[in-house]
Amino acid sequence: MAKQADYAFGWFQVCYSNELGVRHVRPFHAFGREFVLWRDEERQPHLMQAYCHHLGAHLGHGGTVCDGVLHCPFHGWQYDGNGQCVAIPYSPDAKLNGRHIEALPIKERNGTICAWYHPCGEPPSFDVPVLEEWRASGWSRYRRQYWEVDTEWREIQENIVDSTHFHYLHGVNSLADVRRCEPVGHILNVDIHHQFRTPHGVRVNAD
Ligand code: FES
Repeated sequence: MAKQADYAFGWFQVCYSNELGVRHVRPFHAFGREFVLWRDEERQPHLMQAYCHHLGAHLGHGGTVCDGVLHCPFHGWQYDGNGQCVAIPYSPDAKLNGRHIEALPIKERNGTICAWYHPCGEPPSFDVPVLEEWRASGWSRYRRQYWEVDTEWREIQENIVDSTHFHYLHGVNSLADVRRCEPVGHILNVDIHHQFRTPHGVRVNAD
């Protein structure tokens, strides 16, 4: 099983926007850890460490959202979206300083919810890009498909830039025409043209 340090830093999609409704609370497993994913009434999503600062109940199982805070299902401690405990209902005089749980930076862009992960807890060093093509006219709607793949995440990344295997493994008509493969900071610009065999003959597709 992968350890936390095995994950690269960066923004990771945790779900699609329409998979998390207002006041929706759910457990979420990522980076070898347990989290609670929830959305407040202002539609702001949050991703926080799963376990309550009090006695460690998993907030993703039975936690509820009310007035912008997450209520622990066990004894009702309340957390804001930064993971700060803001109230202990049965002990209003309790000192709340230092009673908090970790919250990961989170952004909602392009119909997705993304969380920033860094194994050393460093803050985001770049933003989630806005994709102008998303919902733009002239572009077809993408289709969602789900697979469970028993692999390491690095192999998925390496598969994308391994242009040669498309011909030998996937039956693409000829070797890929790689016109550009250029890293710019955290972005990799790739322009690959494939010739796909289709019922209508060979068609060229650019990635
Ligand atoms: S375990 Fe969460 S309030 Fe007690």
